Amino acid sequence: MQRGRTRTFVSGLDEALGGGIPNNKVVLIKGTTGTMKSSLAYYILYKNADIGRRSLYVTFDQDRESLEQQMSSLGLEGKDLSDKLQIFDLSKGKEKIEEIIEKLRKMGENEKGKGRNERSNETVISILQRRVESIKDKVGFDLIVIDSLDALQMVLNPESPRAAMFRFFEWMKNLGLTCFLVSETPLGTDSGRPEPHYEDFLADGIIELRMETVGNVDVQRRIRCIKMRGTKHSTDYYSFFCGKRNFEIAKAITQ
Ligand SMILES: Nc1ncnc2c1ncn2[C@@H]1O[C@H](COP(=O)(O)OP(=O)(O)OP(=O)(O)O)[C@@H](O)[C@H]1O
Ligand SMILES: [Mg+2]
Repeated sequence: MQRGRTRTFVSGLDEALGGGIPNNKVVLIKGTTGTMKSSLAYYILYKNADIGRRSLYVTFDQDRESLEQQMSSLGLEGKDLSDKLQIFDLSKGKEKIEEIIEKLRKMGENEKGKGRNERSNETVISILQRRVESIKDKVGFDLIVIDSLDALQMVLNPESPRAAMFRFFEWMKNLGLTCFLVSETPLGTDSGRPEPHYEDFLADGIIELRMETVGNVDVQRRIRCIKMRGTKHSTDYYSFFCGKRNFEIAKAITQ
C-alpha cells in the first residue's frame, strides 16, 4: 500500500487538507450541476500526470469529446498526456451494457435463486470492475475518477441499492488506488435527494462544490472539505477560482 498524500494542485486546497488527499482513500466530489465537479476531478488527474502519476478517468455522463473540449477550454489539453491520463468512455457503451443485461435476463429466466434484476446488476458491476482491473494490470495507474456515481447507479438500477453500493465501495477500497467519485446533488436542494446517502457514510472523504448567492445578483463558486478520514483539515467554505491551467481557493469573505 502506498502511503502519503495525493496533491490536488489547487492552490491553497492542499494546505487546507493537511498536504492533500490521503492515498488509497475513496473521496466524493459532490455538488449541483455546473459546479465544476468533473473539471476538478480531471484537473487533479491532469496535474498529477505532470509529475508522472498515471490515472484512469471513467466517464458515464459526458463522452470523451465533450469532456476533452470542456477541459481544453480550461487550458487542460489532454493530448500530450494520453499515456498518463487514460479516459474510459462508457457514455456510448450504455446500449451495449443494456444488450448484455437483456441477454442475461433471458438466460436467467428459468434459473432459481436471485431475481432477474439482481443477477444482471451484479453482472454490470463485474463488467466495469473487470475492465478497470485489466487496465490497471496492463498499464498500471494509481488514481481513478468515476464520473458519476449517479450515472453508474442508473445503469445498474439495483433492487437493493444499499448492498450494491456497499459492495462497490468495498471493491474500490481494496483496489489500492486513490478513488474520486463524482456525485450529483439535485438542483434546488442542498441536502439532495430525500433518501439516505449511503455513499456519504461509506466514503473516506467528501469535497463539496457549490454556488453561493452573494447580494442580489452575484453568484460565486465555493468549495469545502466536509470530511477526510485521517486528516486534520479545515471545514470552512473557500472561494473557488478557475483560471487557465490553474485552480485556486481563497478564504471566503463573510458579510
Ligand atoms: N474556461 C471555462 N471553460 C468552460 N467552462 C468553464 C470555464 N470556466 C468556468 N466554467 C464552468 O464550468 C462549468 C462546467 O464544468 P463541469 O462540467 O466540470 O461541471 P459539472 O459540475 O461536472 O457539471 P455537470 O453537472 O453537467 O456534470 C460550466 O458550466 C461553466 O460554468
Ligand atoms: Mg460533470
